[in-house]
Amino acid sequence: DRHHHHHHKLIGEGASRDDDLLVPYPRARLRPVRDCTPVHTGSLKHENWPPPPAAPGAGPPAVRTFVSHFGGRAVSGHLTRAAAPLRTFSVLEPGGPGGCSQKRRATVEETAQAAACRIAQNGGFFRMNTGECLGNVVSDGRRVSSSGGLQNAQFGIRRDGTLVTGYLSEEEVLDTENPFVQLLSGVVWLIRNGSIYINESQATECDETQETGSFSKFVNVMSARTAIGHDRDGQLVLFHADGQTEQRGINLWEMAEFLLRQGVVNAINLDGGGSATFVLNGTLASYPSDHCQDNMWRCPRRVSTVVCVHEP
Ligand SMILES: *[C@@H]1O[C@H](CO)[C@@H](O)[C@H](O)[C@H]1NC(C)=O
Ligand SMILES: *[C@@H]1O[C@H](CO)[C@@H](O)[C@H](O)[C@H]1NC(C)=O
Ligand SMILES: *[C@@H]1O[C@H](CO)[C@@H](O)[C@H](O)[C@H]1NC(C)=O
Repeated sequence: DRHHHHHHKLIGEGASRDDDLLVPYPRARLRPVRDCTPVHTGSLKHENWPPPPAAPGAGPPAVRTFVSHFGGRAVSGHLTRAAAPLRTFSVLEPGGPGGCSQKRRATVEETAQAAACRIAQNGGFFRMNTGECLGNVVSDGRRVSSSGGLQNAQFGIRRDGTLVTGYLSEEEVLDTENPFVQLLSGVVWLIRNGSIYINESQATECDETQETGSFSKFVNVMSARTAIGHDRDGQLVLFHADGQTEQRGINLWEMAEFLLRQGVVNAINLDGGGSATFVLNGTLASYPSDHCQDNMWRCPRRVSTVVCVHEP
């Protein structure tokens, strides 16, 4: 109420209320994101995209800003392409190295400014109440979080520049011959080898009947969304669309179709809803959906891992 406003901090200041929740599995069951299908019973399919024979020069990332129509709704967002991802792309822990073990949460701006990212978006899923990073996370060659052998869709880069998308065994994650230098986990493999793969990943990532209702809503509801993948030239592609769960934004089918039209060959879905954030040169450039504490303005959420495009 107004009285309250006048006695407290500046309007718009402070943390978000974490009120635009978009979770793949029911919260009531207190299951982490990765808990749907154990790896030993699930699919281990993935795609390896080898680096081009002659490594291309890494110019600055190309950022496209769009306001496009999805089912008649105008939705704004950004599509970024970065060449030479082995040298220009990092998965960052929240607030810098050690953030996962400390279960830190930080805004994308905070994490991106410290690492001088040109482009940064929120990355993997995390436990809202504890700040725990979920899934596999390899950040600049350091393995800082493990999926514990349970799978969801993964995206990563191995030391020789191979881009890897899909479902991985623990052995593949831990491979030392050509180890991952960057790796993170999402939920739903959107595009596999140039075709939409949502139905298949819905079956793979969550085949328990009790869970399918909520998982299907997660796939089909309009919301703010983010994704990561690559195109035919082996360029890294980052996607972000503004939205708010059940009110604005896009569903996973709409995101996958958009990415397919942009020539994306493999892509996975990353955290969305109030977590969806796009930061350009260290400054917030998206419209977050979480409210601020004052309930009038919108505030970026403190999230977990960040995907970052930086100088080579
Ligand atoms: C991927 O798609 C290409 C053509 O689009 C095809 O030649 C190739 O066999 C496919 N690979 C797999 C593993 O399906
Ligand atoms: C995905 O599954 C739904 C429901 O079973 C079906 O209606 C739809 O045709 C499928 N889409 C694709 C692309 O396979
Ligand atoms: C971001 O910073 C780079 C390097 O300083 C600059 O070249 C680029 O124009 C900036 N982009 C925007 C949109 O401000």
